[in-house]
Amino acid sequence: MNAAKEGKALQRCIERSCGAKFEINKQIYSCPRCGGLLDVVVSLPNINGLELKALWKSRLTSMDTHDQSGVWRFRELLPFPEESPIVTLLEGNTPIYDAPRSARYSGLKALQVKHQGMNPTGSFKDTGITVAITQAKLLGAKTVICASTGNTAASLAAYSARADMQCVILVPHGQVSHAKLSQSLDYDATVLEIDGNFDDAMQLVSELAEDTSIYLMNSINPFRIEGQKTVAAELLEQTDWQVSEHVVVPGGNLGNSSALGKGFAELLELGLIDRMPRLSVVQADGAAPFARLLSNSTIEQLRREALVPVKDPQTLATAIKIGAPVSWKKSARAVIDSGGWVVSVSEQEIADAKAIIGRDGIGCEPASATTVAGLKKLVATGRIDPAESAIAILTGHALKDTDYTIKYHREALFTHDRARARSKEERHIRGTFANSPKRVKASKEAILRVIEHM
Ligand code: F0G
Repeated sequence: MNAAKEGKALQRCIERSCGAKFEINKQIYSCPRCGGLLDVVVSLPNINGLELKALWKSRLTSMDTHDQSGVWRFRELLPFPEESPIVTLLEGNTPIYDAPRSARYSGLKALQVKHQGMNPTGSFKDTGITVAITQAKLLGAKTVICASTGNTAASLAAYSARADMQCVILVPHGQVSHAKLSQSLDYDATVLEIDGNFDDAMQLVSELAEDTSIYLMNSINPFRIEGQKTVAAELLEQTDWQVSEHVVVPGGNLGNSSALGKGFAELLELGLIDRMPRLSVVQADGAAPFARLLSNSTIEQLRREALVPVKDPQTLATAIKIGAPVSWKKSARAVIDSGGWVVSVSEQEIADAKAIIGRDGIGCEPASATTVAGLKKLVATGRIDPAESAIAILTGHALKDTDYTIKYHREALFTHDRARARSKEERHIRGTFANSPKRVKASKEAILRVIEHM
């Protein structure tokens, strides 16, 4: 039933002018001929769409570990033999919620959010890491490595502990939230804090992974994308295979948007859906090389032009503080093919959107809130009609960055200012929807007075 079982999965360079093919178990992360990014190509199952949907649904009541994982439940889409031993923490299976306050705030009639922060380590990374670590095990890797703004690190640390592998993590010193760092420490990874930013760390791990005893786990590794693409299937199953007009994701290193695009495209090819949702990506203004590229180029120009990295990216949404996104070509393909947009939003817009998502009783980390801020912008500029259906992908849990949240609500959130060009007032993120704690006397009367004035 499975493509790899029949020996049909392979790796292929995404560059049109190259398209070189490589054996599925060749340990490479880019095309050895031209340096292009690689796709895993799985020959999709030759099975009727209705049967496939029914098979995936039937696994929801199974007690088998492969079926209980929200990623491996869709294993017909993955490049592994059926009986492969897998490394899983039962990732995926994340909820979709209606978010009425966020909808109103964005100017939409309705909005749903898919909360990838409900994964085992609190972010969407788990859906990709489960697959890439399974491949690492299959290849006999002893040491896995990644550069990270925190979430990939936490996820890799957990899964490599499960797989009994050595795990080395490179993070930019002082730029990772405490919650994320604490996870990596607890899962016993070797955490190396470098003097530099994420892009420097990414460059270093790419060089280190030239040594074949070290396996690279960033999303340039196409097996990461394979895991993350299953989120498209889970999302569609949850909406009864009704395709939402818009799906919106945050953009950092651009693996997630690439993966969702690949997922939707494959489901379209299988005939499980009849069109793609428009996939839009939202970046933070201070780390928006992709938004800049796509807003300034025609498709023809894009084929010739390269992304110009942002040298010193800045945003308080540290998860997406990335200036040289590795997967931009795959992401551009997904956005353009689906008819979506790439926009960027300000620090104030991110912070306010995050508070609104909180008021829906959902919550998320700052980077995830770019989605609602981006939707508001897309509606305001007429690119999304208020009556159109939309799903925002919330990528990380609210508890991933509590310092940020507390500062916002205490009116103590400030953007960085390396050049010291702006005053403190100019750098202040207003607590537009602040809800600061109130000091109150430990007496019934005092508390009742507060309640009366609510
Ligand atoms: N949202 C969160 C919470 C993230 O942690 C990341 C990326 C993104 C969005 C952006 O996703 O990179 O696929 O475009 N975090 C990486 C990390 C870089 O190291 O944890 P992307």
